[in-house]
Amino acid sequence: MDIARIPFQIHGDSRGMLVALEGMRDVPFDIRRVYYIFATCESVRRGQHAHRTLTQLAVAVRGSVTFLLDDGSGPAEVTLDDPASGVLIGPMVWRELHHFSEDCVVMVLADQLYDPSDYIADYDQFLREARAPAYPEAVAVA
Ligand code: TYD
Repeated sequence: MDIARIPFQIHGDSRGMLVALEGMRDVPFDIRRVYYIFATCESVRRGQHAHRTLTQLAVAVRGSVTFLLDDGSGPAEVTLDDPASGVLIGPMVWRELHHFSEDCVVMVLADQLYDPSDYIADYDQFLREARAPAYPEAVAVA
């Protein structure tokens, strides 16, 4: 599955901790958008979509949240509870965010501007696109 945990470098001293994220250095893409989710309820489920081309890095900068991630071959669950690491989610991964802690703040860095046409919001449609052959015209040679 096109997901990876990325640990960040922590700059800490007696005053506290600091994490700096620079595009193409700490994050493997140029950062074109940042958004964050806060004031959620524990019982809500967010996300429930995939992106055709977008790559994102999600960080629970405060509290915890669980991501259900699915590339069409079955779901995996990843819990984020550490401001010093993130989860990189590539294109064509269905995601659902759930079990938000009361204090949770999830920051997301993205490699593209907001584009509703990049969303797949229907799970069956996602499965159809995820399982479609990459080169439908290709002819096997062996
Ligand atoms: P939504 O996609 O429903 O959030 P989630 O994926 O967490 O379930 O987004 C909520 C609203 O915010 C919706 O009206 C679209 C808007 N929005 C933007 O304007 N820009 C953005 O970058 C994002 C992610 C959402």
